[in-house]
Amino acid sequence: MSQLPVPQHIAIIMDGNGRWAARRGLSRSEGHQAGAEPLRALLTAARKAGVKYLTLYAFSTENWGRPEEEVRGLFELLSKYLKSELDELLATGVRLMAIGELEDLPPLAAEALRSALEASADNRGLTLTLALSYGSRAELTRAARLLAAEAAAGRLDPRKIDEQALEDRLWTAGQPAPDLLIRTGGDMRLSNFLLWQCAYAEFYFTPTLWPDFGPEDFEAALASYRRRERRFGLAESPGLPTAAAD
Ligand code: IPE
Ligand code: IPE
Ligand code: MG
Repeated sequence: MSQLPVPQHIAIIMDGNGRWAARRGLSRSEGHQAGAEPLRALLTAARKAGVKYLTLYAFSTENWGRPEEEVRGLFELLSKYLKSELDELLATGVRLMAIGELEDLPPLAAEALRSALEASADNRGLTLTLALSYGSRAELTRAARLLAAEAAAGRLDPRKIDEQALEDRLWTAGQPAPDLLIRTGGDMRLSNFLLWQCAYAEFYFTPTLWPDFGPEDFEAALASYRRRERRFGLAESPGLPTAAAD
């Protein structure tokens, strides 16, 4: 059987920071700090492999329910990360994007994000999308609200609402759907991440806790993906074009 080309878009649920910390007698916030460590090597490996889009689940709409101190620590970490890594991101041609209820971010994190988004807007390398205060249900509800408002205002014929119309109103509008979804930490669920977009994604679950996720784990996920047969509901695989970078 022929192997699949490199996934164009990989989405990752970076889970297990809390358990990583608990096993070491550390605080959950220290676990999140350790969770920033794998990112540099991951970005390098993804770029080298020829991945074009990498979407990282960093904070869910449900994560607001965590202790205030943990939430504050997470957004401080985000601000720090964006500042310390910006030069490297720019030097490697990364275009940063963000999806989620960004208006709910604490001011300092929102400002760090805004300047990183602006600085990298013209880059044409890997698109790195951070899902921040992101929830699929919120995203789909918002899209429905936008469609309803346009229809009520007479700008949109309800009979013309098709899948594309809904997709165009998601935060991910314009991006291809993930080919591969990776979740670390051992749980096998989506936790409200990219429900619409992952309709035909291949899933890869690993017990590795996120702070321990290294290039060899990334390579294992890619190797597993290569062996899959994607049929998209057809009787046979439609035969995807081979990626040039494979
Ligand atoms: C994932 O790690 C990071 C975020 C959700 C922000 P967790 O904090 O969920 O770690 P576990 O699942 O408790 O180990
Ligand atoms: C998913 O992990 C969210 C992120 C990784 C940001 P959670 O730890 O919040 O998911 P559940 O609660 O185990 O489903
Ligand atoms: Mg978790």
